[in-house]
Amino acid sequence: MVPVRLTGPRLAIREYHHTPGDVDALYALFGDPEVTRYLPFDPRDRETCADQIELYLEEAMAPERDTYRLAVTRLADAEDPADAAPIAHASLTLGGYRSAHLGYVLDREVWGRGYAGEIAGLLCDLAFGPLGLHRLAARVDVDNAASTKVLTRLGFQWEGRVRHDLCKGGVWSDSHLYSLLADEWPGADG
Ligand SMILES: CC(C)(COP(=O)(O)OP(=O)(O)OC[C@H]1O[C@@H](n2cnc3c(N)ncnc32)[C@H](O)[C@@H]1OP(=O)(O)O)[C@@H](O)C(=O)NCCC(=O)NCCS
Repeated sequence: MVPVRLTGPRLAIREYHHTPGDVDALYALFGDPEVTRYLPFDPRDRETCADQIELYLEEAMAPERDTYRLAVTRLADAEDPADAAPIAHASLTLGGYRSAHLGYVLDREVWGRGYAGEIAGLLCDLAFGPLGLHRLAARVDVDNAASTKVLTRLGFQWEGRVRHDLCKGGVWSDSHLYSLLADEWPGADG
């Protein structure tokens, strides 16, 4: 499905643009060590973020799109969400039979406002609506209490602990695996 455009009460989700503004916004996220603390990569430089956007746009144009890496903007920031600067990153990675992993990363400036729940909710609407998926999963570092709260609040169920899921700086960490099925999401087709 291209292009993706989703709108919630406060936020919109759209495809990235290969513009200096979107590169700056992605770098504000992925260049910040506090933001990447629980993510499976170290902070990235601006050039790498520019390359990432190029990759996201290539993924979007794939004949059978299976990766959605999307920009999140605030509705209040511009009349058209396409013109607003991203404040977060959202992802859906399809794999297996009608299933996907979901993810979200927010700029530190906007933490603590409940935005992650709105982003994850919009991704669930996309996954269980137009994409017709049956299962969504998310892996969360066991110490990432805020993200765990976001998922459980939406109804994600705990499935287990993934031991030594990540290794950063020579230190292994475990993740919790959560999932949500289509019939557990209001309004989904199943
Ligand atoms: C984790 C993250 C997505 C949360 O997004 P957010 O929009 O700030 O989340 P919310 O505002 O809905 O807060 C979630 C809840 O966690 C709580 N919380 C926040 N930080 C916390 C912490 N360090 N310890 C415990 N609870 C915490 C909040 O108080 C809130 O609970 P409440 O609504 O009952 O007050 C965001 O901090 C982020 O992008 N972090 C970096 C990237 C990341 O970790 N992504 C997730 C990978 S799985």
